[in-house]
Amino acid sequence: MRHATFVLLCLLLITTGTAYTASQSSKSEVERGAYLVRIMGCNDCHTPLKMGPKGPEPDMSRMLTGHPSDLKMPTAPELGHGPWAWSGAITSTAFAGPWGVSFAMNLTPDSETGLGSWSEQMFIEMSRTGRHMGKGRPVLPPMPVASLTAATDEDLRAIFAFLKSLPPVKNRVPDPVDAGQETK
Ligand code: HEC
Repeated sequence: MRHATFVLLCLLLITTGTAYTASQSSKSEVERGAYLVRIMGCNDCHTPLKMGPKGPEPDMSRMLTGHPSDLKMPTAPELGHGPWAWSGAITSTAFAGPWGVSFAMNLTPDSETGLGSWSEQMFIEMSRTGRHMGKGRPVLPPMPVASLTAATDEDLRAIFAFLKSLPPVKNRVPDPVDAGQETK
């Protein structure tokens, strides 16, 4: 009986100990992801700029929500005849160039308009292949796929864990527009 109690106690200690370490490591994974997102400049294109007292600044109330659905972009100016090759929206979330028009994705975990339906594996595949959701069309510029390709699986997992920890925000970003087509 005594022996059984001792074994039970040991088991309890081991399992609570493991649970504690697991939640610790996932917290530090999210923290590392937040750090990586910050130093890799994901906000530069995925958080809309707003006008502040010192000029344009990221609107952190819309952190990583992508191109705002209420900012309808007119057809992009014609470029490509001189050294100016591409242009960007005032929010720095939509970009026109030889690839057509691209809109920075909503990176919050909203199930319909953001990363909610993405698995960690899809995010890693996208980063490794440069393909939409890991297997579709090529991901368009200026999304820095090459930087993500250079990241380790561990860092990609941390970035994804951080993005999944954000509050989900509904913001439907338009589909990209092929070169020569009108913006919808
Ligand atoms: C210079 C601008 C820019 C930066 C910096 C940037 N992105 Fe993007 N991102 C974009 C654009 C534009 C798209 C849309 C591309 C498309 O539609 O093919 C995009 C798309 C994505 C997608 C969706 C890819 C897909 O499968 O369609 C993910 C996920 C993403 N970005 C994550 C990130 C992360 C994480 C970072 C920081 C490490 C980051 N982005 C930094 C511009 C940027």
